Amino acid sequence: MGEDKVVLTSREGRVAILTLNRPKALNALNSEVMREIVRLTAELDRDPGVGAILITGSEKAFAAGADIKEMEDRTVMEMMLADWFSDWEMLERVRTPMVAAVSGFALGGGCELAMMCDLIIASDTAKFGQPEIKLGVIPGMGGSQRLTRAVGKYKAMDMILTGRMVEAEEAERMGLVSRLVPAASLMDEAMAAARTIAEFSKPATITAKEATNRSFEVGLREGLLHERRTFHALFSGSDQKEGMSAFREKRAAVFKHG
Ligand code: CAA
Repeated sequence: MGEDKVVLTSREGRVAILTLNRPKALNALNSEVMREIVRLTAELDRDPGVGAILITGSEKAFAAGADIKEMEDRTVMEMMLADWFSDWEMLERVRTPMVAAVSGFALGGGCELAMMCDLIIASDTAKFGQPEIKLGVIPGMGGSQRLTRAVGKYKAMDMILTGRMVEAEEAERMGLVSRLVPAASLMDEAMAAARTIAEFSKPATITAKEATNRSFEVGLREGLLHERRTFHALFSGSDQKEGMSAFREKRAAVFKHG
């Protein structure tokens, strides 16, 4: 049951797992996948029992890009009126930390989806790329912006203008990957990271994500002020008292996410 779904869902404690499931198309991201990912992440984000969302694909492909066959015959007016890809921006609104577990191809929209997550844990078999230039187009789900912010102008230009694939090790060296792990332990490592995040105070993790992302949007002074004020605000919750008293009492903190 559920094998016909383009995104499979499961739950392990406070971690929700979304698995892209279009094996015959190397998990190409068509409109249905976009709708499902947007719908599911929004729903999970509202669930206080979910502390982290893990997004993954298959061993062969995280996702080989947006679905080329779905786009091929579109006209500019169809693309513009549908505002093609704009719904992916909804992922920016997800406050719950998201972890991408990447094995195999993460190309075009696949690389861009991984970059919409907060951590990228990559298997040593992962291959990243923005090959849109080979199709006569350019990245359309944020690659020119998020890749450049992640790795800097010259690495981003190399990937976007030549369309070349980058192996996992090089991706890690350039800062596109949070952790590089052996293929056999990818899911264990990614789940462990997601579980760690999910057990921390949810008000603290969503505030930490928001403050970190703000560094891409505002100047240093504004960013520092935002960080300090939200740091102060966390003193209104029980988790700050629990975390600090647990430290003093030399025991593990048990957060109630409040
Ligand atoms: N869209 C639609 N179908 C795709 C696809 C995609 N992005 N990527 C792979 N597939 C399909 C193939 O057409 C093929 O289907 P058929 O068996 O029906 O022919 C199937 O998946 C398996 O693929 P291959 O036979 O090509 O597998 P391979 O191992 O020989 O090659 C690959 C793997 C190098 C990833 C190759 O499939 C490839 O180059 N894919 C396209 C990558 C790409 O250009 N991605 C960018 C898309 S545009 C985009 O993402 C825009 C954006 O910014 C959002």
